[in-house]
Amino acid sequence: MQAVELSPADAPAAVGLWEACGLTRPWNDPVSDFTRALGGPSSTVLGLRASGDGASLLGTVMVGGDGHRGWVYYLAVRPELQGQGLGRVLMHAADDWLRERDLPKIQLMVRRGNDGVVAFYERLGYAIQDVLVLGRRLDD
Ligand SMILES: CC(C)(COP(=O)(O)OP(=O)(O)OC[C@H]1O[C@@H](n2cnc3c(N)ncnc32)[C@H](O)[C@@H]1OP(=O)(O)O)[C@@H](O)C(=O)NCCC(=O)NCCS
Repeated sequence: MQAVELSPADAPAAVGLWEACGLTRPWNDPVSDFTRALGGPSSTVLGLRASGDGASLLGTVMVGGDGHRGWVYYLAVRPELQGQGLGRVLMHAADDWLRERDLPKIQLMVRRGNDGVVAFYERLGYAIQDVLVLGRRLDD
């Protein structure tokens, strides 16, 4: 199964999947997040579709490069399909997308409270980095 770049028409299905996977938060508009990621050359949303059913989205990963590093967001696999290797396929697709753009490193953030997913990333070769992430909103 191969991940493909999603199109604007996939927004409702992707957002539904993110909600089902507990990835949305009131302070982030997921439709805007999806649209922004597709709006420029430095980011996209990759997805896995069921074979023979173009409308059915099985998983997503948002990937983008900031000119220095590659970042991943909204990694999600339909809850009933988790544990079958789809998350690994999506993360490898994100690797390939970033390698094609000569970005030397991929990294991601895990929300506190979702610590259980760290073991998944470690299985794929990721390691916790010795950094703190600081942020500030620019849209308030
Ligand atoms: C995280 C997520 C995408 C993983 O997808 P998945 O399809 O279930 O993962 P895979 O089946 O590809 O697992 C790949 C490997 O990681 C292991 N793994 C998966 N989840 C794991 C977990 N919670 N703890 C330990 N290992 C885990 C699998 O056993 C597998 O190992 P193997 O290849 O040696 O057999 C999926 O659980 C999900 O959508 N979770 C909810 C959304 C979420 O939290 N996203 C991440 C936000 S940071």
